[in-house]
Amino acid sequence: MTSSTEHAGIASLNDWLRGRHALTGATPRWDLEALPEDPLVLFEEWILRAEADGVPEPHTATLATVDVDGIPDARTLILKRADARGWAIASKRSSRKGAQLEAVAAAALNFWWQPQVRAVRVRGAVVEATPEESAADLAARSAAARADVQDGDWVLWRIVPTRIEFWQGSRDRRHTRVVYERPDGAWTHGVLRD
Ligand SMILES: Cc1cc2nc3c(=O)[nH]c(=O)nc-3n(C[C@H](O)[C@H](O)[C@H](O)COP(=O)(O)O)c2cc1C
Repeated sequence: MTSSTEHAGIASLNDWLRGRHALTGATPRWDLEALPEDPLVLFEEWILRAEADGVPEPHTATLATVDVDGIPDARTLILKRADARGWAIASKRSSRKGAQLEAVAAAALNFWWQPQVRAVRVRGAVVEATPEESAADLAARSAAARADVQDGDWVLWRIVPTRIEFWQGSRDRRHTRVVYERPDGAWTHGVLRD
């Protein structure tokens, strides 16, 4: 019997993967002496710069959740809003992520902006918005997007971050990481070097 690793397709996939490069983008200048106190200010600066630099759909991110057995899951989502109340995403309560958020009300969001070698990583507890806010979010969607949603199934959730990391890669692997945390309510930040 042929094992899967001997299969020609897999061998060529692994050869192909070995030949790939990463961190090939062009990093913008980043003044670490001028970091804002509020990570939202830095996020706004970064996402607008991402758009200006031609990053396609910079408001899409990977949302990670955990199921009742502690098994993680992840999928791509749109960031709907971000403000002092949290980082909002929207989906169906009846979805896998809806069940997972019901079981474990915590999540992480990861943005990757390849052309700039930048990533942003957010994690925290998740709270459900009011029914009025969820309904308003649904109402703002196109008729096609609203068509297959049952009454009350559309939910806006907010990730209330306790940690936000801004990561900028470097070809020499001296990546720069700025981590914001709020152990006592107020944001503090520090610079990490890989
Ligand atoms: C670019 C992009 C944006 C997406 N945005 C959303 C979104 O905002 N809400 C949503 O429910 N699904 C969105 N999806 C689909 C999800 O990735 C996912 O397939 C779906 O929500 C089901 O996920 P689940 O089974 O983990 O609940 C998006 C997919 C892509 C590729």
